[in-house]
Amino acid sequence: MIQSIDNQHRKAFGPIDAPERLLLGPGPSNAHPNVLNALALPPIGHLDPFYVNLMGEVQELLRYAWQTSNRLTLPMSGTGSAAMEATIANVVEPGDTVLVAVKGYFGNRLVDMAGRYGANICTIEKNWGQAFSLNDIEDALIKYKPNLLTIVHAETSTGVCQPMEGIGDLCRKYDCLLLVDTVTSLGAVPLYLDEWKVDLAYSCSQKGLSCPPGLGPFTMNERAEKKLSLRKGKVPNWYLDVSLLNKYWGSDRVYHHTAPVNMNFGIREALRLLAEEGLEKSWARHRTNAEKLWTGLEEIGLTLHVENDLRLPTLTTVKIPEGVDGKAFTLHLLNTYGVEVGVGLGDLAGKVWRIGLMGYNSTSQNVEKVLNLFDTEMSKFKK
Ligand SMILES: Cc1ncc(COP(=O)(O)O)c(C=O)c1O
Repeated sequence: MIQSIDNQHRKAFGPIDAPERLLLGPGPSNAHPNVLNALALPPIGHLDPFYVNLMGEVQELLRYAWQTSNRLTLPMSGTGSAAMEATIANVVEPGDTVLVAVKGYFGNRLVDMAGRYGANICTIEKNWGQAFSLNDIEDALIKYKPNLLTIVHAETSTGVCQPMEGIGDLCRKYDCLLLVDTVTSLGAVPLYLDEWKVDLAYSCSQKGLSCPPGLGPFTMNERAEKKLSLRKGKVPNWYLDVSLLNKYWGSDRVYHHTAPVNMNFGIREALRLLAEEGLEKSWARHRTNAEKLWTGLEEIGLTLHVENDLRLPTLTTVKIPEGVDGKAFTLHLLNTYGVEVGVGLGDLAGKVWRIGLMGYNSTSQNVEKVLNLFDTEMSKFKK
């Protein structure tokens, strides 16, 4: 029998009263109001025929967003990092050689993850703000003979968009799988997975798709499936094992885990909105608004960190001028105006601001708003 109740942790908190924010940082971005409505629908069972049908719709719309016909395309229950780990966990076996092209923070995360699955890691590196050439990639493929090349398409830490044309051809030539991080590009920056011969890719829900964080889109093609089927041992991660997950997401629809039903309602609506707008229009909108931001920042006298041709439309890195307290400025924007702008990460900590224009937030009005704040408020933060 229970003798007494310990009430020390019973706090009389009120309901959540979250502040309103305009999220113009590295992510998450604000969710589209229709997506928020979808998230707020009453949950139904994860094996309910209605939900099972909706799962197929999510998969089909993800294929559209990624421009792929991959059978194994599904949203992992978890954030982008879960989908990232799923790509590695399924195709990397102990002793495999994994070549990671590192040009920012998330390249280093891939190094860490692949090492945990027993791979021999080789890296090629670029300064944070640059991209790899086809020669860089080919030289490394010849030198290291990897089973898998991993590369980040849209480096959120630097604002660089890695040119992808030709990398997939090189990977086929040297018999290597190609894994691409599309976390900050899906829905917002041109992506042609099949045309680019990408074997595995992952993304997130909270950036170009205008949905809150919580799902990690994942896809793998037949080359990657073959590597999975030839594994000597089990995938060393039960939750992310695609051969098990596919019994739920494939035609059997057998229980694997209790799916986050409402998150899938949300991403279904986000992807529906993307398809309604059309990929080309969404990509063009992101580019037009980013170009307006770049021009405006330069007119204010600021310098962009990345050269024009490599700039990412979803994430712009701006050099913090000498003598300006970059962190205090972003805190001021958040506390006074409810506008979130990011600061630098890793090698770029203290050196740049990161301004995101992603999904629902990529609008001309938001560009004008952030430019106006930089123009009028930044000078108050000279040290
Ligand atoms: C390029 C890139 N890869 C991976 C991730 C990890 O995604 P998540 O934070 O959703 O786990 C992020 C997060 O911002 C990212 O920008």
